[in-house]
Amino acid sequence: MTPEAVLTDLGDTSALANVRLHWDLSMAEMPAGDPDFLRDEVWRSCSRYCGFGDALDGVLARVAEAARETPALRLLAWHAYWRVFLSPETCPPNGWPEPERHLGEDAGGLLLLVALGFVPLLRAKHREWGIPEEVTRETAQQVRCYCDDAYRRGHAGRPGVYPGPLAWLRHYTREKYVRLGRFEYWLGPNPHRIEVFRHRRSGRVMALAPDGTRFARDGSIYRDPGDYAPGEGWTATLQHTTDGVAGCPIDPRGAGTPGNVLLAARDWECVLKHGDPSLMMHIPSGGRMTPEACRESLLQAAGFFPRFFPQSPPRAVVCASWIFSPPLQDIFGGQANLSVFQKNLYLFPVPSGPWDGLWFVFLQNGPLDLERVPCETSLQRGIRDYLRQGHRWRCGGMFFLLDDLPRFGTEPYLKDWLPTP
Ligand SMILES: CC(C)(COP(=O)(O)OP(=O)(O)OC[C@H]1O[C@@H](n2cnc3c(N)ncnc32)[C@H](O)[C@@H]1OP(=O)(O)O)[C@@H](O)C(=O)NCCC(=O)NCCS
Repeated sequence: MTPEAVLTDLGDTSALANVRLHWDLSMAEMPAGDPDFLRDEVWRSCSRYCGFGDALDGVLARVAEAARETPALRLLAWHAYWRVFLSPETCPPNGWPEPERHLGEDAGGLLLLVALGFVPLLRAKHREWGIPEEVTRETAQQVRCYCDDAYRRGHAGRPGVYPGPLAWLRHYTREKYVRLGRFEYWLGPNPHRIEVFRHRRSGRVMALAPDGTRFARDGSIYRDPGDYAPGEGWTATLQHTTDGVAGCPIDPRGAGTPGNVLLAARDWECVLKHGDPSLMMHIPSGGRMTPEACRESLLQAAGFFPRFFPQSPPRAVVCASWIFSPPLQDIFGGQANLSVFQKNLYLFPVPSGPWDGLWFVFLQNGPLDLERVPCETSLQRGIRDYLRQGHRWRCGGMFFLLDDLPRFGTEPYLKDWLPTP
């Protein structure tokens, strides 16, 4: 069947251009019988592995049976699986139609079966690295988070998984990616270009902005250069000499500061730069992000990675996300779990559009109609009100140097912060 014929059978050809991508390659690799992830014994055991009880079994059994018997559904499911997990390049199944004509209210179940299909791939990868089974099992919980905390919220409680999060599961099957307690970590080169220095005697930490970064008036960075007003803000320079480094400091509350400082090499040591082994953090849904849970997870990570991947001991935990947007401290209040966590990290600005990351909150991509966005939770209401007041939204970045773990909980970067050397 061609992709046109498949989508015509499903009654919606609007995503044809995307579905067509790599169709022939994926069809060439399709197994002769049913793909494993559509077999009852496979999806059932994967579902248990991800922490689902038996409540989903009815929906999944109906969807799997329909997919085994309906060529268009079977091909679309395989193509989604291939695109997410097997395609040589990242190629997410964006904007694909849900097969409601065939599956009605169970339609979300098709991509959920695909998502569950990541379990054997994840287990194989983790076995190869000698990662303990209980860590693999904990990591696999993410499918349940995607279903219960996101898709169900947007679909009146029906199970499923959105294509965006589904596409993210690819990384779990290829990267050094695990969940340890409250957070997930991915060991790899630090993708951020800020440079971080520590004072050799006092231990004070200062981050400098990448050369050429243009800052807005408030020290944030716009993703789209067209968003800056003419002449607005300033552009950072970063210069290394034999004596040290001169650059534009970043306030650990998450903003660039105008003006340059000179950090003398005899006093300041570079402790984190682009490409250094780092743990990219991801935050699974689920709340209960208490300071104890955060600390416990960081401690676990600091012990786990050097043990299983001794060739590249990480120097820091880093992340860029809506979760590290500095205004959330006002929106949530200073004592909220997320605010306390932010205050224990070194926040830094990252290029951000005015709606970036808000999908995770409203399950809608921007621009958002603020009069119509869902406002069921205090977070949704807080962000909506913040935007209604005319503020511009932004995502944020953070790093935490693993050498500072003993000081986690004491706001180590804020406490020692001075904008001068
Ligand atoms: C936001 C978060 C970090 C806060 O954790 P926490 O401080 O322990 O607080 P809670 O979970 O109690 O959440 C506080 C409020 O925000 C709401 N909330 C939390 N996450 C939300 C989300 N993604 N969308 C909408 N509301 C959310 C909660 O429902 C709660 O609302 P209520 O006061 O009306 O009951 C956590 O809930 C979370 O992990 N969310 C999703 C993670 C995510 O998006 N990850 C992807 C990152 S790129």
